Amino acid sequence: MHASPLFAQAVARLLCQVDEALGRPSELDFVDMGAGRGELVTGVLAALPADVTERTRAYAVELADRPAALDERITWLDTPPAAVTGLLFANEWLDNVPVDVAEVDPAGVPRLVLVADDGTERLGEPVTGADADWLTRWWPLPAEEGLRAEIGLPRDTAWASAVDRVVRGVAVAVDYAHTVDTRPPFGTLTGFREGRETAPVPDGACDITAHVALDACATAPTAHTPLRAAQNRGCAPPETALAPPATAHAPSPARLLTQRAALRALHITGARPPLALASTNPSAYVRALASAGEAAELTAPGGLGDFGWLIQPVGIPDPLA
Ligand SMILES: C[S@@+](CC[C@H](N)C(=O)[O-])C[C@H]1O[C@@H](n2cnc3c(N)ncnc32)[C@H](O)[C@@H]1O
Repeated sequence: MHASPLFAQAVARLLCQVDEALGRPSELDFVDMGAGRGELVTGVLAALPADVTERTRAYAVELADRPAALDERITWLDTPPAAVTGLLFANEWLDNVPVDVAEVDPAGVPRLVLVADDGTERLGEPVTGADADWLTRWWPLPAEEGLRAEIGLPRDTAWASAVDRVVRGVAVAVDYAHTVDTRPPFGTLTGFREGRETAPVPDGACDITAHVALDACATAPTAHTPLRAAQNRGCAPPETALAPPATAHAPSPARLLTQRAALRALHITGARPPLALASTNPSAYVRALASAGEAAELTAPGGLGDFGWLIQPVGIPDPLA
């Protein structure tokens, strides 16, 4: 769905805005993080104007193998390039980064949920240390038996390490998301097999995902984060060396918005074409109508429009502001 041509056009437009903000560098990076089969990066290359395409270095970062017929201009990697000047775009990557699940026991104590290969669950040790701190701050669990939380710390770390690769430009994470005031009381752990929802049994036969606490990711300290700011937020112990690298540019604050708002800022609204076009140019009308339908789906309330977009500018202003 997200690799739809219209979505790729919107991401291409964002890349052009980043390009402008960077002063049209001779080499502009586009990194598709968690690229799947490379559909988005392929669509972005197809949607860019020629003068931008010729300066673009396109990367797909993916653990799976490179698809055989992929555009040879795309470099296939299993970790992001060390220094990105441009746009790093992570579409439904973070929901794939594994998390532990905690459940409140009869005494009101959050414990780790242990799961057997056949999906049978039992409660393990109480949650302690950094995981417990994360729960307290980001997903506090009332002492009510059966309540659950997904401990998002590995996603915060994964996101921060991706942002660290951006020397100048923007990092964007797009995902099913919730924030501290909208956490689901029993979590969101779900399995998908051949596109259909199924029980999240860890038998290798289905993809297991959980929605992302993007508000927590937004404050994860990165190499760009000044040490004092990280400590003030309680994210870093005093002894942690988080001084920015010599090349680092000051980050603007990260911003979290809905996909609806992000796509509107990129001029994708779902508005129907004027009816008069149907008589003056019927084929353009049909094309515009199809595009409006696609836009409506991407921005639908209660559907894809509610996805979260986490925008982290580095060294340039937020292009969607
Ligand atoms: C839900 S899929 C999304 C694929 C694509 N971005 C899309 O929107 O259709 C998540 C992808 O992230 C990849 N992935 C998960 N962890 C990764 C990591 N640490 N590095 C690179 N890719 C990763 C998975 O292999 C999977 O293909």
